[in-house]
Amino acid sequence: MNIFLFMTLLLIQRSHGVIYELNDTEYNKMPPVFHLEAYGSCVHEPGGVYCTVELKLVSDGPSELMTMIEEYSLRREMHFNHSRLHRGVCVTRTCKDYLSQNTSADLHLVLEGCLNDTFWKQYKLKSKLTTEVLCNDLDNKVDIDYGDIAVAVICLAILMLNIVGSLYDFLFLSHNESNGNKFLMCFSIRCNWKRLVACSTDGPDSRLRRLKGLNGLRAISIIIVIMEHSILPFVISPDDAHEFERKYYNIIYHVLIDGALVIQTFFVMSGCLLSYNLQLHAEKRHMNWTMIPKGIIRRWLRLTPSYAVVLAITTTWLRFAGSGPLWQSTVGIEVKDCRRDGWLNLIYLNNYIDVSQCMPQTWYIASDMQLYAAGLIILTLATTATARKIVLSVMFVVSLIIPACHTYIQNLDAGLIISPEVARHTFFKDRNFNYSYKRGHTNLSSSILGLALGILIYNLQKNEFNVEKYKKFKLVYWATLPAMLVILPSGSFFYFFQNSPSLYLKAIYSGVARPMFGSIIVLIILGMALKLENIYRGILEWNGWTSPARISYSAYILHVLFVRSLTGTRTTLIHVSLAYIVSVF
Ligand SMILES: *[C@@H]1O[C@H](CO)[C@@H](O)[C@H](O)[C@H]1NC(C)=O
Ligand SMILES: *[C@@H]1O[C@H](CO)[C@@H](O)[C@H](O)[C@H]1NC(C)=O
Ligand SMILES: *[C@@H]1O[C@H](CO)[C@@H](O)[C@H](O)[C@H]1NC(C)=O
Ligand SMILES: *[C@@H]1O[C@H](CO)[C@@H](O)[C@H](O)[C@H]1NC(C)=O
Repeated sequence: MNIFLFMTLLLIQRSHGVIYELNDTEYNKMPPVFHLEAYGSCVHEPGGVYCTVELKLVSDGPSELMTMIEEYSLRREMHFNHSRLHRGVCVTRTCKDYLSQNTSADLHLVLEGCLNDTFWKQYKLKSKLTTEVLCNDLDNKVDIDYGDIAVAVICLAILMLNIVGSLYDFLFLSHNESNGNKFLMCFSIRCNWKRLVACSTDGPDSRLRRLKGLNGLRAISIIIVIMEHSILPFVISPDDAHEFERKYYNIIYHVLIDGALVIQTFFVMSGCLLSYNLQLHAEKRHMNWTMIPKGIIRRWLRLTPSYAVVLAITTTWLRFAGSGPLWQSTVGIEVKDCRRDGWLNLIYLNNYIDVSQCMPQTWYIASDMQLYAAGLIILTLATTATARKIVLSVMFVVSLIIPACHTYIQNLDAGLIISPEVARHTFFKDRNFNYSYKRGHTNLSSSILGLALGILIYNLQKNEFNVEKYKKFKLVYWATLPAMLVILPSGSFFYFFQNSPSLYLKAIYSGVARPMFGSIIVLIILGMALKLENIYRGILEWNGWTSPARISYSAYILHVLFVRSLTGTRTTLIHVSLAYIVSVF
């Protein structure tokens, strides 16, 4: 009853001067947020120039329409900013008059005048361009520079090695592969394929087999991450913005829209594997500080080559890979930023700068690297059980306070709000994403939980822990999945009910949300490692997850490139429906 009252109170408390909903008649009075004129027929005309711009609507005098637009946009969590419009214009056709007035045409001025007049005629509003004018005309030459050539040479060299390695494998070694040239065998496609589809995950130690379910967890999480990123084309060019906004009022979509916490799974797994493997290692060799640089360098060498290849291609040849009205704003910008800041990606510091849109999804890889280094330092310096307990507890408390402080001091939201406007600009300049979500130190809590979990599992295995008497907690264990589905969209409860909660509440939530989700993952992994039950464990330890888990890293690095290119080569707006989202996915 109390909960019901509380909900009603939340529902009633609406802010003044904000329009929460509009019916279609009213909605259609506003100029559409997205509009693209026909592209193909424009650029194929002789001398045809097609430009895309973003512009903002302004009004000097009082305007009823402008007030409505502003008030509707104030509900920024669920609505686009309707005073910020995206237009694709065939300049040589639509703005012909403005071109002929001034032959020394500066496209910026031409478009400004042309669009301003169009909006004035139709809506009695004025407009100003807010971004640079990005134009495609087929006369644009492909100018290849030294960087392009270098990357092409490297890629060809890798390809050649693959061919040579495969041939070597096929022709000379098909029967006994144990004594082949190790270096060439690394590039053999047959050999790599075999390793990719091999079922067993036999590590150096049979105890590692109890962590086999991490494959399932990894594969499922990466699938969810990719599914979320598949929404990108729909945010950048929806044909019906109203329909898109309405999806935000459907709680089902919020599991998809607010899945940002899923990434914590990877932090927990990464911490767990680090501490577990470190303890296996410590059985044979003495631990000392030299392991810190060695471990970091080994990890860098393992992660960087494939990452560097994708980065190099993004920085160079990708810019020639397509065209279209959306190409420059989705792909062109990324290429430009990678040329300027791509080197930061290679030293895994790109999550601490906010001006780059170079492979934005790799913030996670940078964060994970930083947390790996932190975990390695903690565990190699604090070697006794007591010391570890104390250090990890203190760090955990600190890790709860850090995000809360960020939220409180910088006045952020409770979690990452993937609002239409934020997603439309791929999180660029979003304060929640930049100051809290993507940093390394703000994600410390799940990593610490992972480290503790690795130590716990190792000790339980060593003491031959008997799980029988805990089997009655199966129900609690099974509750983890529903709990996950509640916690995942819980951040949206802060804005779903149309009120603005106090900053304290937001700060507390931002402190505990990540460790709460992390703890559930910890429970799942623990139950799986101890064979508490067979349902979740059976699903997660399914052999079919082994190969997807092995390519999850490559998939993570690559998938945004495909989603972006797919969006960039569109010449029309796209209809928003679950079926299309699934097909992009
Ligand atoms: C939409 O809302 C306006 C103002 O609230 C009202 O006048 C109009 O009749 C409504 N239209 C429909 C189709 O409901
Ligand atoms: C919408 O965009 C305009 C232009 O960039 C900006 O002035 C305004 O503050 C934005 N409105 C909201 C609610 O963010
Ligand atoms: C033509 O454009 C130039 C700048 O591109 C401007 O200086 C000049 O005044 C314009 N002329 C007319 C007639 O609008
Ligand atoms: C936009 O159009 C209005 C009305 O025609 C005009 O007064 C204003 O100067 C124009 N602004 C620009 C930047 O062209």
